[in-house]
Amino acid sequence: MICGMLPTIEWRDDAVVMVDQRKLPEQETYVECRSARDVARAIRNMVIRGAPAIGVAAAMGLALGVRRSRARGAVRLAAEFHGLCELMAASRPTAVNLFWAIDRMKAAFSEAARAGRSPAEIAEVLVAAARRIHDEDVAGCRAIGAHGAAVVPEAGRVLTHCNAGALATGGYGTALGVIRAAVEHGKQVAVFADETRPFLQGARLTAWELLRDGIDTTVIADGMAGPLLREKRVDLVVVGADRIAANGDVANKIGTYTVAVLAREHDVPFYVAAPVSTIDLSVASGDGIPIEERGERELTHIGAKRMVPVGAGVWNPAFDVTPHALIAGIITEHGICRPPYAESLPAACAQDGDGAER
Ligand code: MRU
Repeated sequence: MICGMLPTIEWRDDAVVMVDQRKLPEQETYVECRSARDVARAIRNMVIRGAPAIGVAAAMGLALGVRRSRARGAVRLAAEFHGLCELMAASRPTAVNLFWAIDRMKAAFSEAARAGRSPAEIAEVLVAAARRIHDEDVAGCRAIGAHGAAVVPEAGRVLTHCNAGALATGGYGTALGVIRAAVEHGKQVAVFADETRPFLQGARLTAWELLRDGIDTTVIADGMAGPLLREKRVDLVVVGADRIAANGDVANKIGTYTVAVLAREHDVPFYVAAPVSTIDLSVASGDGIPIEERGERELTHIGAKRMVPVGAGVWNPAFDVTPHALIAGIITEHGICRPPYAESLPAACAQDGDGAER
């Protein structure tokens, strides 16, 4: 049975509980965040990662922060909430779902405050808003899967990069949602998962969650994608996204651009699967997307062991940008956007979802 519903994140009484993705697959342990600060730290340290999951975590973190606030008056609470939003926004810069979720929570806060609700009532409004964001994300992933399954061949060999699965979302996944839905439709799907240096999301997380669902999975080192594609052992590439610019350029995990260039060279369709909350129409092209650079230890060490000689320079951008010209389609919960993206993406963002191609 394909479930894809891993315990990525959960609201539990007065805490946000998340599986510690740094420790998978060796250990399935859970981190209990008891404050908004704990949640911001968990996002920064990659206890939880993946654009939609980061958005859900931020929303729950803000609800938690307001719930635990001691502020008595609305003005004082608003000032505290504003500070928590800034804290959350500073956790990671590239995934726009984080900022989208913060904006949704700000809107919920303002509406409740304008209606004259008490701090305790505002907190309950925010908890409900965060839960709604979580539920909508799961439903969105299932809709992405339903639309995307159509592009997977009956006996499809699919290459994916990083982890755009249940662990990276509220549940089910975007790119892995497409794979899960194809399997649920009875297709024979075999997945190649790029290991995804340096954090190894593909080797550790994608392989772990696909195997739990009994899906045929082969892990390759990132540098092996070239010969794999040249030998015609891949029918389709599907990846997730952290931010999609108005022209269709896509920021995703470092290494995605390389895969897209290779896919074009070998005539293999390259698809991106993402909810519309990942589309940022305020950014004209990929050049305007902020790319996070992470600490050098992720690159210099494997586990506790140093692999790089002391003194060597290190460059560790966490994401790259794939130009829209390399992308066959962007699979959203509202259907598959096709070029020209400057027209199809705003149409997807504007509508409530009828599932047509655009
Ligand atoms: O650094 P990460 O692990 O947060 O990066 C995650 C990715 O790049 C995913 O592909 C993207 O967020 C889409 S997740 C559905």
